Amino acid sequence: MYGLVNKAIEDMVCDRFGGDTWETIKEQAEVDINTFLCLEAYPDDLTHRLVHAASLVLGLSPSEILQAFGEYWVLYTAQKGYGQLMDMAGNAFLEFIQNLNNLHARAGLNFPHLKPPSFHCTHIQENSLCLHYHSTREGFTPMVEGMVKGLGNRFQTEVEITLRSDRKEGADHDEFSINFKPSRK
Ligand code: HEM
Repeated sequence: MYGLVNKAIEDMVCDRFGGDTWETIKEQAEVDINTFLCLEAYPDDLTHRLVHAASLVLGLSPSEILQAFGEYWVLYTAQKGYGQLMDMAGNAFLEFIQNLNNLHARAGLNFPHLKPPSFHCTHIQENSLCLHYHSTREGFTPMVEGMVKGLGNRFQTEVEITLRSDRKEGADHDEFSINFKPSRK
């Protein structure tokens, strides 16, 4: 994945646990890179190794790390030069969640080798929907949960997300059911 993702993991760990912890995680992951270049593509395996090592060092499950990272990503991208991209995807949770493919299509202008996930929504009601997540990658499902919660925070919307159909269990893609309630109009 693009270095921006690994850099964001680094910044999250450094913000919350400090630089020494990050060095320990990198050592444990056998990652010998001092500076991730945001616009360079790195092997997905490297990201998985960092998440696995962070889980060992911090005593959290890989799923908890990925969820926390997903929430962090929503704030991070908005602050690190992609605020306009985020703004263009919508002013409210439901609108935004239906625009994730457009958002990544626009992001592809900055990241020409992007292999973006693909999302679509079904069963759309006033306060609920099903979100379908397709990806060429494996193992990032909890990150989607975190990102959706992060979007809830962005739009002051209470969000409850449940994985209904799981690629790990043989489904051809992941499907989440989402209930949401804006806390302000
Ligand atoms: C301005 C905001 C965003 C930018 C710039 C961005 C960009 C990216 C980039 C660069 C990657 C790595 C893919 C690759 O290297 O091929 C990625 C992956 C991903 N993005 Fe976004 N993204 C943004 C917001 C979001 C949001 C809000 C979601 C919410 C669901 C999301 C979901 C994902 C997922 C799940 C992946 C993992 C890759 C996969 O499943 O293949 N992104 N994105």
